[in-house]
Amino acid sequence: MNPLPTEFPVLHTGRLTLNAITPVNLPDLYREFSNPSVTRYYNLLPFTNQEKAAELLSYFTKRFEEKEGIRWGIFLKKDNSFIGTIGINSFNPGDRCNIGFDLLPNYWNKGYMSEALEIISLYIFASLEVNRIEAEVIPENEGSCRVLEKTGFVKEGLLRDWMYFNEKYQDMYMYALLKRDFNKV
Ligand SMILES: CC(C)(COP(=O)(O)OP(=O)(O)OC[C@H]1O[C@@H](n2cnc3c(N)ncnc32)[C@H](O)[C@@H]1OP(=O)(O)O)[C@@H](O)C(=O)NCCC(=O)NCCS
Repeated sequence: MNPLPTEFPVLHTGRLTLNAITPVNLPDLYREFSNPSVTRYYNLLPFTNQEKAAELLSYFTKRFEEKEGIRWGIFLKKDNSFIGTIGINSFNPGDRCNIGFDLLPNYWNKGYMSEALEIISLYIFASLEVNRIEAEVIPENEGSCRVLEKTGFVKEGLLRDWMYFNEKYQDMYMYALLKRDFNKV
């Protein structure tokens, strides 16, 4: 049985609430994904119109309803500002899932993504019958590699020509965190 929940799982850290993204957040989603420094390492061109943000939100919502993934919005507890997203892109019940994350640049380098990554790792291992969390990262994306390593993800190797985007086949690092190595469950 697929253990992804029917009710959206709201998560809390010291400074953040991770919650569903709703139509109220569409301007924030557009602001984030129209910024080339956010999409630079994604298989995604920067958004040039608001409809793209609505399409992305519909995609996240549909995947949650069909129990294929979960995408949380990351909100600051102090004023409920939307600062980014994090989530499960693909899910193999019993075995593993693959995650992704992004933040609006104003909020980079303040430890927010490390905080969000730690709480979703805890949630995934404790609630979703997953033994391994994977993330693929372009080697030049040093901030992303660092966040993963700080949370205990291990760089397992280089996936050569793993994905075609930005007009070429991209090598990517495979990072993974195993349940037995995550000592907070
Ligand atoms: C990757 C990203 C999510 C990091 O979020 P963040 O909240 O800034 O991360 P944190 O503050 O928790 O940690 C960042 C760490 O990376 C380090 N770092 C940031 N940029 C770096 C760089 N260019 N080179 C080396 N280290 C870097 C920081 O110093 C910090 O490490 P420290 O705590 O040891 O000092 C954010 O930069 C982002 O949204 N980037 C664009 C989207 C993206 O690339 N997503 C990931 C796709 S796999």
